[in-house]
Amino acid sequence: MLAIVNSVVLTGLEGQQVRVEVDISSGLPVFCIVGLPDTSVKEARERVRAAIKNSGFEFPLRRITVNLAPADVKKEGPIYDLPIAIGLLAASGQLQGGCLTESLFMVGELSLEGSLRPVPGVLPMALALQELHPGSTLIVPEGNAQAAALATGIRVLAANSLSQVVAFLKGQEELPHILPEWELNFSEPRAAVDLADIKGQDQAKRALEIAAAGGHNILLIGPPGTGKTMLARSLAGLLPALTYEEALEITKIYSAAGLLAAGQGLIRERPFRAPHHTASLVSIVGGGRIPRPGEVSLASNGVLFLDEIVEFRREVLEALRQPLEERVVTIARAQAAVTYPANFLLVGSMNPCPCGYLGDSARPCQCTPYQVAQYRKRLSGPLLDRIDLVVEVPRLEYRNIEKVHPGETSRQVRERIERARERQRERLAGEGLRCNAEMQGPQVRKYCQLSLPARRLLQNAFTRLALSLRAHDRVLKVARTIADLEGAESIEEKHLAEALQYRFIF
Ligand SMILES: Nc1ncnc2c1ncn2[C@@H]1O[C@H](COP(=O)(O)OP(=O)(O)OP(=O)(O)O)[C@@H](O)[C@H]1O
Ligand SMILES: [Mg+2]
Repeated sequence: MLAIVNSVVLTGLEGQQVRVEVDISSGLPVFCIVGLPDTSVKEARERVRAAIKNSGFEFPLRRITVNLAPADVKKEGPIYDLPIAIGLLAASGQLQGGCLTESLFMVGELSLEGSLRPVPGVLPMALALQELHPGSTLIVPEGNAQAAALATGIRVLAANSLSQVVAFLKGQEELPHILPEWELNFSEPRAAVDLADIKGQDQAKRALEIAAAGGHNILLIGPPGTGKTMLARSLAGLLPALTYEEALEITKIYSAAGLLAAGQGLIRERPFRAPHHTASLVSIVGGGRIPRPGEVSLASNGVLFLDEIVEFRREVLEALRQPLEERVVTIARAQAAVTYPANFLLVGSMNPCPCGYLGDSARPCQCTPYQVAQYRKRLSGPLLDRIDLVVEVPRLEYRNIEKVHPGETSRQVRERIERARERQRERLAGEGLRCNAEMQGPQVRKYCQLSLPARRLLQNAFTRLALSLRAHDRVLKVARTIADLEGAESIEEKHLAEALQYRFIF
């Protein structure tokens, strides 16, 4: 007998319907799964067999064929355990096939004793269902329910065991219908470090303010122990609170990566990812046997902090070039290319040379010019070209350390940043963009009009600083942000001059 159960498959963050077809016919007892399953899907056989027996049902000792259609899309992970088990029970007559309607979908991993375990990717699956089959019902493991319920266009039911799902399908028991928590006030951004705790370094603080206001990439260069790591960490407290759309995007990525804690719903804080410099290419960019989003995607709508950036592997740094430009990352795979968002603000920190003291007035540098050149070469030209703000973080004079008057707090600075962001949002709403850094060529030409003196200054700087066209556009975007921070409509000479000043130390 044949039974069909609906489920969902993800390619990247895109979901589509999967039909789990289970056929039982007479013949020697075999259990095979076809339809491009990976090994963890094939292992479903063992889990399903044990779960069915341990839930008090009978496992049919006949010829069982499971087909996951469409057969040309790769199926990964243990998410089909539940639909396969339900299909088996229906095909063997232990469950009436009529209860498996076209609008009923389910996902979930089974333990050997028959309980349901959370699976990765439930939120993007639920959002795909909401689009493809609005009003349908999705049964998910309890731990995934809050995330799935963020898709409000479908009915999400939570279950914690195979027998509970069977009882529901037989009409003996109701499953709890999960509604999203509509507690939408996002907590105030928090960071490990407050700007007021950092002494001196006014120029670097100003650059961080600009970076946060427009979403620009920033590199901090300075000798050891001057506060680079502290400054970078304070950025989390400068970025504006998340909007609902941004929060949903982030939650989708974390769901696909399997990084949502059981029972977690919407993520409410901007990501701040600080991978170690020994991190592998796959962990930064994404991919792997079962493709998962990497750090560049997990940092989406937030910050990717590469401390000691030159110590990262060259291949890792070079791989950042595409996402830095396109704000998505595409991972080629045997069956299909997978695309994840990678819309992050890059913060890097580094010393000026291997010994760390080049340019420090009080301590002589031990490095040869060759060593310095080799060291800096690790940041390639194309990568540097994508960094909008380069700032020096010098060693402090003693009088700065003693200064009693503390600087502005992160909260005070964030108020200016929020206003600048509001201005950008209004201006760019029609383009579907959120901040100045996201503008592409045509928008730069449309929204970054310069006053006449500013235009003359740019003309000079273009040749003198040997700017690439990309750098030219990026300078304009930074100048736009500086004007926005001031509430100015047009970009004046002083805005452009400040933007140019962050362009080159190298
Ligand atoms: N400007 C500063 N204000 C307050 N404390 C500071 C400042 N600079 C450094 N410190 C103190 O020094 C410690 C080290 O600072 P931090 O880790 O930010 O240095 P760094 O510039 O990243 O150095 P390295 O190049 O060695 O990584 C901090 O934990 C803090 O206690
Ligand atoms: Mg440091």
